[in-house]
Amino acid sequence: MQYIKNAGDLEPTIENLIQEVPDLPPIPEHLLEYDLDVIESMENTFPYADWIDSVASYTVPQELHDWCQSHFDFPVSVKYLVVKKLLTPHIDHGIEGYKYSYVVDPGGEGIKTYFWDNSDKWEKSRIAKVNYTRPEEIDNIITSTICERNKWYRLYISEFHGVDKPERPRIFVTCKLADQKVDLSLSL
Ligand SMILES: [Fe+2]
Repeated sequence: MQYIKNAGDLEPTIENLIQEVPDLPPIPEHLLEYDLDVIESMENTFPYADWIDSVASYTVPQELHDWCQSHFDFPVSVKYLVVKKLLTPHIDHGIEGYKYSYVVDPGGEGIKTYFWDNSDKWEKSRIAKVNYTRPEEIDNIITSTICERNKWYRLYISEFHGVDKPERPRIFVTCKLADQKVDLSLSL
């Protein structure tokens, strides 16, 4: 499958901000790890290691990497992503454009991923400074989606997005273009 990398490959219209990708088959069960203790025993490669109580990403076994790689025509970096808290509106670090996420555990029923058009207000920071208890209270939501177990999604992570507080840890396998530079100089 052609890897959609950035806005030049596919215009980030509202429909394209978050889309299920039916072309990508479900990851075979035997390649997946569901035990959080096992996942968390792998190397945490998230650029902010001290965010581990909220979000962390882990190196995957070679077999899982190879299976994912076989479905893309670009070199991909494959990680487990574990999210334990509400994700405040943000733009991803270390990657631009689109990434692919496979839902291993959605973290509960009806957990929504939101996108906002608040670039004018928030553009100075990669994490929005805003007070709220639930993401849906924040103005200018342009789309929201419940990501379902065992499905792939493509997300445009250069627009502000965030996620409801999960009932239990959300677990994903994420694929992004390999060897993108992580720029930690941008303000949080
Ligand atoms: Fe993100």
